[in-house]
Amino acid sequence: MCGIVGAVAQRNIVSVLVEGLRRLEYRGYDSCGVAVLAGGEPKRARSVARVSDLDAQVRETRLEGVTGIAHTRWATHGAPVTDNAHPIFSRDAVALVHNGIIENYESLREMLRGKGYVFVSQTDTEVIAHLIHSMYRGDLFQTVRDAVKQLHGAYAIAVVHKDQPHTVVGARQGSPLVVGVGQGENFLASDALALAGSTDRFAFLEEGDVVEITLDGVKIVDREGIHVEREVRTVAAYGGAVELGPYRHFMQKEIFEQPRAITDTIPQADQFDASLFGDRASDVFGDIDSLLILACGTSYYSGLTAKYWLESVAKIPTQVEIASEYRYRESVPNPKALVVVISQSGETADTLAALKHAQSLGHTHTLAVCNVATSAMVRLTGMSFLTHAGTEIGVASTKAFTTQLAGLFVLAVTLGKLRGHVDARQEAAYLAQLRHLPAALNSVLALEPQIIAWAEEFARKENALFLGRGLHYPIALEGALKLKEISYIHAEAYPAGELKHGPLALVTEAMPVVTVAPNDTLLEKLKSNMQEVRARGGELYVFADSDTRIVSEDGIHVIRMPEHYGLLSPILHVVPLQLLAYHTACARGTDVDKPRNLAKSVTVE
Ligand code: G6P
Repeated sequence: MCGIVGAVAQRNIVSVLVEGLRRLEYRGYDSCGVAVLAGGEPKRARSVARVSDLDAQVRETRLEGVTGIAHTRWATHGAPVTDNAHPIFSRDAVALVHNGIIENYESLREMLRGKGYVFVSQTDTEVIAHLIHSMYRGDLFQTVRDAVKQLHGAYAIAVVHKDQPHTVVGARQGSPLVVGVGQGENFLASDALALAGSTDRFAFLEEGDVVEITLDGVKIVDREGIHVEREVRTVAAYGGAVELGPYRHFMQKEIFEQPRAITDTIPQADQFDASLFGDRASDVFGDIDSLLILACGTSYYSGLTAKYWLESVAKIPTQVEIASEYRYRESVPNPKALVVVISQSGETADTLAALKHAQSLGHTHTLAVCNVATSAMVRLTGMSFLTHAGTEIGVASTKAFTTQLAGLFVLAVTLGKLRGHVDARQEAAYLAQLRHLPAALNSVLALEPQIIAWAEEFARKENALFLGRGLHYPIALEGALKLKEISYIHAEAYPAGELKHGPLALVTEAMPVVTVAPNDTLLEKLKSNMQEVRARGGELYVFADSDTRIVSEDGIHVIRMPEHYGLLSPILHVVPLQLLAYHTACARGTDVDKPRNLAKSVTVE
């Protein structure tokens, strides 16, 4: 999704800006651009192709400057054409980049047209550039502070004015923005990752902050207009995190990183303890009577899986809801519910808004399961569990999902123990299973060659059905999501018992039916559902635990999973589905890490 980079330095910063965009590329975008203050006026280059094309342009035109801003755009208002690409100019004096959506842009546009401003793009962003130009009286920092009061919606912006050649001003409300602190130079970015290589010292802006960066200073005012300091933290881990190494794509690398990611995520301690979730957790966990899980996309599916664990292991009622639905519907708040937000990025606009909505309804017990320690969600919740997946570059989430599952399983066992449903023997057994998980994942990853053979066949299909039951139904959903996200094959998932209520009508010999078949209590039921598919000529592709006695025969293709893994089985069964989607996409030649129309971190509604 949209990305911002800004810099003030004494050296030519164009390569820093373009490198910053390159580091944000993985989030998904459809155009990009850079502007610098050169000889008084802003000059820019924009591209509707990739950042590499923008780089070629700036080299060819020798675009240079010591102060500048840059952007990757994911179109919301207006098509991905050059005129709509940022930086957006106002009368060759102001250059501005913007993440988010300005909801009152139509009324602002009319007001500004009345003042003689001519609009050349279809973006909502252009109103901010003209607004700032119209209000500018020699102090860009003050102008932006005044101008943002007129904006409704979500934004992070970075702006320069030709009369202040060593100043970049930024503001945030609902979209992230971070200051990178250098020596004799300073930076702005929507994600600290963009500035890896330039600095490792960051100040994370709060909602409503406006910031001015100059060569040797950073000034911040909060939403009340009061000058504030934001803690500068050293975040060293960003450097080098985005190297591809021997892999063909980041998604493949991240699938294979899962044993390491799980090892880093599961607690070192020999016991499950509330303190794993923060200092307040032991009091809060004793007070709650239910869970409300809010999330989007893949993170929502980890919530759905966790519901099975929370209700069976901890015997605690659990509701899981898509964040974009919850935030807008009338619901009945229960102050004794623990609200859990699950998010890889911790910045997803809908999940963040759902969390704030829950808080506004009086929910005070909040927990984030998140992969980014410095994210808005971790800062806004009273408790957190950090997954240690490491930076995830591929738009389609893989290692973030399995580490979320590991964290949520720890939550279920911890709550089960506190509520008297998990005894010491069971606790030790769960812990041993978690510790063995990386080794078990390695044996699943070894199935890759067999999955590649299936992927060759899937690449020629246009539709696929995924079936699972119980704990593995959300895994079937995740498998279907992975396939559609990156291979563009239409895929749907059903709880296998629902087949007869509709999807069976779709089954013909042209329909591959992927079946998640663990050796659990529902196996015999699942086998009956498989027969329903075979009777209609459907082709079954089954990931079956070794002791299920499901064997390959006409119309039934079987890949044998190494072992049955009890309650943690979903974490193993999702991996071959990730690999199937990945290799099918490779066989179809799609842009695996940056699938069309999608973004990694969806920071707009
Ligand atoms: C986007 C990504 C998905 C991700 C979802 C939620 O749609 O492409 O991979 O699952 O956002 O993101 P979050 O960061 O909140 O987990």
